[in-house]
Amino acid sequence: MEQISWPGRGFDTLVGRATALLQRPGRAVLGIAGAPGSGKSTLADELTAAIDDDFPGQVVQVGMDAFHLAQRVLNRHGLAHVKGAPETFDCYGYIDLLERIREHTDHPVYAPEFRREIEESIAHAVEIAPAVRLVVTEGNYLLLNAEPWDGVRSRLDEVWFVHLQDSIRRSRLQARHTHYGLGTDAAETKTLGSDEANARLVNSSRGNPDVWVEVNADAPVDL
Ligand SMILES: Nc1ncnc2c1ncn2[C@@H]1O[C@H](COP(=O)(O)OP(=O)(O)OP(=O)(O)O)[C@@H](O)[C@H]1O
Ligand SMILES: [Mg+2]
Repeated sequence: MEQISWPGRGFDTLVGRATALLQRPGRAVLGIAGAPGSGKSTLADELTAAIDDDFPGQVVQVGMDAFHLAQRVLNRHGLAHVKGAPETFDCYGYIDLLERIREHTDHPVYAPEFRREIEESIAHAVEIAPAVRLVVTEGNYLLLNAEPWDGVRSRLDEVWFVHLQDSIRRSRLQARHTHYGLGTDAAETKTLGSDEANARLVNSSRGNPDVWVEVNADAPVDL
């Protein structure tokens, strides 16, 4: 397993690995896993932007979080208080989409997108056009060693695990919660409650990543 530090000079190595996947015959899917607040979405955004500069229209991002069950379904099942836990996602739907992304390269495939502003997903919001050669997908549970999540790994060509030391990860998560409208107490309750439980699960079931991305907490991101 290769270890790479990011942000910083390791970023070029990550872009190189992702570009090599894109240049393989057919369409590749790269997974980015890690605990809540570790920086998966930030890395996926930065990586996708860099690759799109060199290969316009050939890379697209699809989030695992787009498979969050809708709030009304969570309410019906009494799962609203653990939103974000593995059982609050449509994992089978996610796996099916990964299959379709791999197999259906002769027509557009549409994926949902999670909108934090409304805490819900919008169907068919992301277009994966036939020209797309690399799909970057990121989420908490890509390497989870429990059914049905253990079906994800075989649908990915490569998986990177993003790790950030817990104290900084928690403070970034808390800041993001307040940014999206939670009061200080509610943000802390979420960060130290359900988010923390999910982080423990992710960190205790890291599967077998191809790359360990150690987040350099001192380096700013340049988006
Ligand atoms: N280098 C950085 N410096 C400061 N803040 C950062 C840096 N990288 C990411 N962040 C911030 O940390 C927070 C968490 O990052 P991000 O949203 O990418 O994590 P994530 O792993 O996708 O989390 P989740 O699993 O909850 O979706 C965000 O608010 C992001 O803007
Ligand atoms: Mg994210």
